[in-house]
Amino acid sequence: MKKKIFSGVQPTGNLHLGNYLGAIKNFVKLNNEVSNDCVFCVVDLHAITVTQDPKKLRDNIYETVATFVASGIDPEKSIIFNQSGVSAHSETAWILSCTARMGWLNRMTQFKEKAGKDKEKASIGLYSYPVLMAADILLYDTTHVPVGDDQKQHLELCRDIAQKFNNDFTADNFFRIPEPLIQKEFSRIMSLRDGSKKMSKSELSDLSRINLTDDKDQIINKIKKAKTDTLPLPSTSAGLEKRPEAKNLMGIYSSLIDENLDMTIGKFSGKNFSEFKENLSQVLVDKITPISSEIKKLLKEKNFLDQILKKGREKADRIASEKLKKIQEIVGF
Ligand code: TYM
Repeated sequence: MKKKIFSGVQPTGNLHLGNYLGAIKNFVKLNNEVSNDCVFCVVDLHAITVTQDPKKLRDNIYETVATFVASGIDPEKSIIFNQSGVSAHSETAWILSCTARMGWLNRMTQFKEKAGKDKEKASIGLYSYPVLMAADILLYDTTHVPVGDDQKQHLELCRDIAQKFNNDFTADNFFRIPEPLIQKEFSRIMSLRDGSKKMSKSELSDLSRINLTDDKDQIINKIKKAKTDTLPLPSTSAGLEKRPEAKNLMGIYSSLIDENLDMTIGKFSGKNFSEFKENLSQVLVDKITPISSEIKKLLKEKNFLDQILKKGREKADRIASEKLKKIQEIVGF
């Protein structure tokens, strides 16, 4: 069966190594497998669930497209577009919000984290965010959704919504039930300053993450300053337990060069952090600086990026509006 791939990234700036290793690297791999139909969406409707500066949002949309292309997604093979350009996403989200249950959304941990203590002040969009995400996925008859570990619960909700809709309207198999594609190891890259916290765009300290636009000196400096502990590196994976920073840094190394963690552990067993960090910096510089220079180059070619988005929107709109028409018929419009 042909795999249908859909995934999204928010244009909220500071795309980082976590986004790359958790999601975008996998997008590139899926884009390169000939038998896949891939759709990669810049989810600008999701971005405005928290306050955005309109000028910065526009710049960040371009930067996200540039990051996709610079990382190796081929816009001739995959559909790249921005969510607000295809109105079927918002319309379907409304219909699905009448299928989703409050109880289901109340369980979403990401809402609780993002809304913080003062839930009353969070936007309604932030609360219903996973319903829009379900609309994104279901409109394209998606079979597989490559995401980082933090999106797992949203994917489960999407599956529940699809199943309930199919049951409620006795429309067997109308919505395909999508599978998450989450890497087994290191699907959650942690902050360089605190190994118990996720690497994130919103973390105040820039030293906590490697941005995909960082240059060589910035990468070397951030790895030099990355938090470690005082022990030498272990000889087995069990030795990484209760050492979150060592585990994260070794995981980043192994994930970047596509080797399994045990091999990385074997290479650096008994060595100190300074020697390991030199190797890690080298691997990061080799992998990230070509992407970072390409992003900067592409950002000077706005016409080219506009063309990619325009073509992508047209293709996405054709697929999504056809599915929406069927949804409208099923619900009785
Ligand atoms: P977003 O924009 O927060 O993140 C984009 C992708 O990066 C992954 N990611 C990470 N992976 C590993 N370690 C980290 N520290 C890390 N930080 C982020 C995320 O898991 C994600 O895959 N809701 C989504 C966007 C979205 C979407 C969709 C995804 C909207 N509609 C439909 C899939 C399908 C989000 O906010 O991702």
